[in-house]
Amino acid sequence: MPHQITLIPGDGIGPEVMQAAVRVLEATGLKFAWETYAAGAEAYEKYQEYIPSALIDSIGRTRVGLKGPISTPIGHGFPSINVALRKRFELYANFRPISNLSHIPTRYPQVDLIIIRENTEGLYSGIEHEVVPGVVESLKIMTEKACTRISRFAFEYARKNQRKKIHAIHKANIMKLSDGLFLRCAREVAKGYPEITYGEHIVDNTCMQLVMNPYQYDMLLMENLYGDIISDLCAAFVGGLGMVPSANLGDHCAIFEAVHGTAPDLAGKDLANPTAVIRCAELMLHHLGEHGAALKIQNALEMVYRTRDKLTRDVGGKAGTSEFADSIIAAMEPEAVAAAQNRRP
Ligand code: NAI
Repeated sequence: MPHQITLIPGDGIGPEVMQAAVRVLEATGLKFAWETYAAGAEAYEKYQEYIPSALIDSIGRTRVGLKGPISTPIGHGFPSINVALRKRFELYANFRPISNLSHIPTRYPQVDLIIIRENTEGLYSGIEHEVVPGVVESLKIMTEKACTRISRFAFEYARKNQRKKIHAIHKANIMKLSDGLFLRCAREVAKGYPEITYGEHIVDNTCMQLVMNPYQYDMLLMENLYGDIISDLCAAFVGGLGMVPSANLGDHCAIFEAVHGTAPDLAGKDLANPTAVIRCAELMLHHLGEHGAALKIQNALEMVYRTRDKLTRDVGGKAGTSEFADSIIAAMEPEAVAAAQNRRP
């Protein structure tokens, strides 16, 4: 039986990087039945719906989505489709692993951080209004239920994956009630996991600490907005936004998408790095229980980054998006795998 997956190519660089990921996934030898849908401005043009009901039905059915970035108008226009999908399917945990691939010249070559971001509330609740002309109110919603749920997700992940430390990141010195609630819930959950060291850092200090020495952290647990900002900061440790995948996870379904956006500066030029979405595909395969195929992709990525011949420009190469994908696919061929194994010491 093929794996049924809802595919949302997105816009900007979305269709290019997603096509690369789909080709790599199919080259693993697994079978997929893709249910492909537009969302956002493109969907509105075609169906007068930003999130077509057929797309909602599809995710409800397949319970697994692979999604490209979707642009959100700045300061006006329709609300974020990304946020709406996360809320609609209660994808409360945003899991963002930040790790180096071999041979990318970065200041910190051995970063291995996990960011756990609460995905459904905080300032991203989108509840804003103009009180009187010139005065606007934007509400930060925090609930005990969501703060406890995301804390438990983080500690469970740490326990299952032998991670040692979790830092809750906050601004409870200023937002005493909302971030205070987040900390109270995290502390309460931490008591059930005595083997995991629990710490707390204020978000502005965290940014400085990360840039000085990212190795001091293991897992970072935070509310929505801080998670969004700190993920981009951490992407810089491992080669930039073209490198970092994420999974939006709920109790009933999961949507995998890169941390990056639509990169309008690169769109349509075959310049974008598809590594982030290929790593999303890898996370998706683990979620589907296809660990062997996920490992195949991971090894091929490592091999292509080690040889450095076919990298994209953002990480110092000259290859285009599709040429990079070709080289990942070639690295998955049995002869390439055998040759790499023979070369190992
Ligand atoms: P962006 O992530 O699209 O781009 C930021 C910088 O990173 C740009 O210089 C871009 O060229 C570079 N970059 C991003 N992805 C790359 C890749 N795969 N390979 C090489 N370089 C890459 O962020 P920006 O410009 O702030 O946002 C553009 C649009 O994307 C906005 O409409 C925003 O709302 C949307 N967005 C959507 C997201 C999603 O769908 N999950 C997430 C973030 C932003």
